[in-house]
Amino acid sequence: MSSTEEIIGRADLNDLEAILAITNHDVDAVVHQVKNNADAIFTWDYEKGARPALNKLYEKAKKSQWNGETDLDWSIEVDQEQVVVANSLANGGDGTGPLLDVTGTCFENWSEKEWIQLGIESQNWTLSQFMHGEQGALICTAKIVETVPWIDAKYYAATQVMDEARHVEVFAKYLDEKLSGHYPVNAHLRMLLDDIILDPRWDMTYLGMQIMVEGLALAAFGFMHQFTTEPLIKQLLRYVMSDEARHVAFGVLSLQEYYDELSAAEIRERQEFAFEAAVRMRDRFLQQEVWDRMGVPVKEALSLVSTTPEQMVFQSMLFSKIVPNCKKLGLLDAADGWLRTKFTELGVIGFEDWVDTGAEYDAFALSAEETGSATA
Ligand SMILES: [Fe+2]
Ligand SMILES: [Fe+2]
Repeated sequence: MSSTEEIIGRADLNDLEAILAITNHDVDAVVHQVKNNADAIFTWDYEKGARPALNKLYEKAKKSQWNGETDLDWSIEVDQEQVVVANSLANGGDGTGPLLDVTGTCFENWSEKEWIQLGIESQNWTLSQFMHGEQGALICTAKIVETVPWIDAKYYAATQVMDEARHVEVFAKYLDEKLSGHYPVNAHLRMLLDDIILDPRWDMTYLGMQIMVEGLALAAFGFMHQFTTEPLIKQLLRYVMSDEARHVAFGVLSLQEYYDELSAAEIRERQEFAFEAAVRMRDRFLQQEVWDRMGVPVKEALSLVSTTPEQMVFQSMLFSKIVPNCKKLGLLDAADGWLRTKFTELGVIGFEDWVDTGAEYDAFALSAEETGSATA
């Protein structure tokens, strides 16, 4: 059994100094290489539907494909400044200023111009990280096609590979055509994606990607979809979420069966991996690169903004899908409730009885009216 320090590299979850020490040093590199340690598995058991829930998901996915080029209305003009103002108003701000008292802080001399620029950088950063995360999903799901031993899961994963290609494509197009700059992958996100890919065990790819990264993405997309007034991103997120809900269900349905066979020691390793992933994702949302680009002392800025009530609600909402799904998989209460204790320390255990994503995908499905090419 490992200590918190062995799992995440620091003893104190909230040690800002240690969090900020993790940075991305090769921001100009065009490629990033990770050793894929896993065995590719052939199965000679071709019986389709041996796992009915996965088969149902596969049939659903075949009918739910959409086309990012033609189903989204790319003629919509996006005015980033206007979006910043609308977001601020939706969060109870005045449209152009800070949400908190900044007297005596590094923001004291900021004018409306800096606050708007911060909002614009934040949009560029957020959409960039969504795009990088989507590429992580593309690679992980291609890996699952190779490594999972069940034919129904290989079939389903193949449809997810197509979904993820489309997601990378639409986020990249939105960034290029509607926003004003890319950010390199955040170091905490890259560390997590690397860890998922490096692990040779096929179920760890699912746990890291489908349960943790995609569970968080589904919540983050849902949050943004709800509050944004920008019609193109709203539409884009609606389409992406209809796929993501299936992907998270794929993780829950596959792991539920597999975890039944695992020993207590093996389950404990999954709990530790889930905890590590949760911490990396929480750290990535501090958006340290944005503060750096805005030219303010990152640590001071973060100590100020990460404690605002809005930020704390947002941070914990990100876990609203992950926690109930971990509970459904038996990960919260195994090993004397080890993960329950860790999620309590992270302040997210309150979501344990929220709806899990095992069957929620029907509620997210696109209707026939929403799209010409995809049907519910
Ligand atoms: Fe995706
Ligand atoms: Fe996905």
